[in-house]
This record gives sequence, structure tokens and C-alpha cells, in this order.
Amino acid sequence: MIDRLYPLPGAEPLAAALADAIGCPLGASNQRRFPDGECYVRLLDDCDGKDIAIVARLDRPDDKFLSLLMLADTLRDLGAARIGLVAPYLPYMRQDARFQPGEGITSRYFARMLSAHVDWLVTVDPHLHRYDSLDEIYSIPSRVPTAAPLLAQWISANVGQPLLIGPDAESEQWVAAVADAAGAPYRVLEKIRNGDRDVSIAVPDLPPGRTPVLIDDIISTGHTMARTVQQLRRQDLPAPVCLATHALFADGAVETLRSAGAGAVVTTNSILHSTNGIDLVPVIAEAARALVRSMDA
Ligand code: R5P
Repeated sequence: MIDRLYPLPGAEPLAAALADAIGCPLGASNQRRFPDGECYVRLLDDCDGKDIAIVARLDRPDDKFLSLLMLADTLRDLGAARIGLVAPYLPYMRQDARFQPGEGITSRYFARMLSAHVDWLVTVDPHLHRYDSLDEIYSIPSRVPTAAPLLAQWISANVGQPLLIGPDAESEQWVAAVADAAGAPYRVLEKIRNGDRDVSIAVPDLPPGRTPVLIDDIISTGHTMARTVQQLRRQDLPAPVCLATHALFADGAVETLRSAGAGAVVTTNSILHSTNGIDLVPVIAEAARALVRSMDA
């Protein structure tokens, strides 16, 4: 049983919604920064022997990670029995190999650091490409609910005659699951990435009469979807809908998508963004409850 949730700064509304869904109180704390930018943590409840979950939004993680470790270590120091982390978006998953000599495999290092400070992890649709599961790099138990059924519900409610499209091989795991849940056909395209904002994608001629729905786990610069949308717009098809789980949206990404000719752009609330239209709270709450139950058994 989770006794209490503590939000990292920036995750307060998410933590409140999760506390409601899980049926446990929010912890009180004072977390702020000293004038020099270092973080200050003070817990205002007695955590001795308590089962705690920290709720954190870990997009742009470098600004938040040390605060997270400080909060976890303060909880541990003050006697918390178990400390979990609910982070709907799990960062540092894409550097899962040494692509160039001398590069760091930062997914491993991040996993090692996090695993040393918290006891369990719940996250949504982590970017598992060259890893089969988080267990390959995280030494703590995890649950990874997927947004696929929720994306499928959104499509069924909002798009008549959809044709789902995964822009690259990595997206197949998500697009196939969404297609299955939505009962819709899907295609997976081929992408070559030449740089952060430089991708080329081969788009075949698609049958007329269906609305293309692009599905990916992450929209970051928006170039993966924008290149696909641009090419689809040359065909006699309705404006493509863009759906993603994690709305990273680097500066200018929404404009990039719009000027490419995208129709609706919809994401889940794993990362706060104006395109959020799909609520993950119920699935995250259920996953956290189930993971803690399994650890208690
Ligand atoms: C690729 O590995 C991911 O699944 C996404 O396709 C990628 O992160 C999207 O990035 P961007 O929006 O910058 O093209």
C-alpha cells in the first residue's frame, strides 16, 4: 500500500490527481532553491516507516534530477520504508548504444543512478528500442503501462476510417498495439536519421479514402512527423492526424508540424503541453497500486 505521494516541484497537480485515484494523501514538503540555485528539501510530515511514492515530471531532466535524488535521499534518511518513483515520461532512453566512438551510453548511467536512489518505478511507454525491457538497465522493479488503448479510444471517437502510420521501425511496437485496439489497419515507414533535425522518410502511395493517423512515442523536434506529413499531403488524403504519448516538443516543433500540413496534434499528459488530450492518470494509478501490491505479496 502506498501511504503518501510527494510531488517534485512542477508535478503538484499530477500528484494530486494520482493521490485521488490511488486513494492516499499527498505529503507536505518545502522544496525550493537557494539563491545560488542549489535545492532545499524539508519534509513536513513524519515519514518513518512509510511507503512513499515521488511523482515527478522528468522531461528536461537535467534541471530536475538532482532535486529528485535529494528528495529521495531525504525520505530515506528520515526513515521511509520504501520509496517509489512515478515518472510518466522516462528520460535518457534514446541513447541505448554507442553510435559513435567515444559516446556515453547514457540510458545505462541514468538507470544506474536512479536505481540507486529509489526502490521501484512506474513510467509510461518508455522508449524501448535496443532494450527489450527496463530490467536490462534498471535494477529496481518497474511497471510500464502503455497509452496504446487510450490512443486507440481517442482515434475511435475522433477519426472515421483511420489508417495508422508508424514513421519508423521503432514505432511499430506502439502503432501495432494501437491498431489492434482500434481495429484499424496500419503501415510502418522507413526513416533515416542524419541528425537531430534532419530525417528522411520513405512514404509509399497510400490508398485513398482513409485519414492518416501518425503514431509515435515521442514528438521532440517534430521533424519525424513533419517530414511524413509533408509527403502525405502530396497525396489525395485528408490532413494527417498526429498522435504521440510524450509531448517533448522542442522549441518550434508545433509550428514545424502545422506548417508541414498536419491536422489535429494530440498527446497524452505524460508531459504538460497544450496538445494534451488524453489522460494517463487512471492507468498510472493502477500500475503503481499493482506494483506495490506485488512487492508486498
Ligand atoms: C525515435 O527514436 C522516436 O521514436 C521518435 O521518432 C523521435 O524521438 C522523434 O523525434 P523528432 O520529433 O525530433 O523527430
